[in-house]
Amino acid sequence: MTGGYAIKNYKTRGERVLSQIPIDIKKIKKEDLNKEILRAGLIAELDAINLYEQLAAMTTNKNIKKVLMDIAEEEKTHVGEFQHLLLQIDKEQIKELEKGKKEVKELTGK
Ligand SMILES: [Fe+2]
Repeated sequence: MTGGYAIKNYKTRGERVLSQIPIDIKKIKKEDLNKEILRAGLIAELDAINLYEQLAAMTTNKNIKKVLMDIAEEEKTHVGEFQHLLLQIDKEQIKELEKGKKEVKELTGK
């Protein structure tokens, strides 16, 4: 998702519209603003992956499916971009990601 796309009038789950920011930026403390912006970007990219994969699963047109899956893959790159930026400014997130990885490894052995 590169912003400004024209599906503004379609509703998703609940009342949220696809291009709306899922947080109230005005209520965010100044020092948390960039983290919140990056997390909103991550949410949008993950949502976009689901959307494109669902649309790809719906179509019977091979070319549309192929392009939708290609775009879904590009969204995963965008997730990586936002995550990289977030981890530069949210050191606690780095620590918690490692903790999560360790907990899963302990529970599953993988
Ligand atoms: Fe994107």
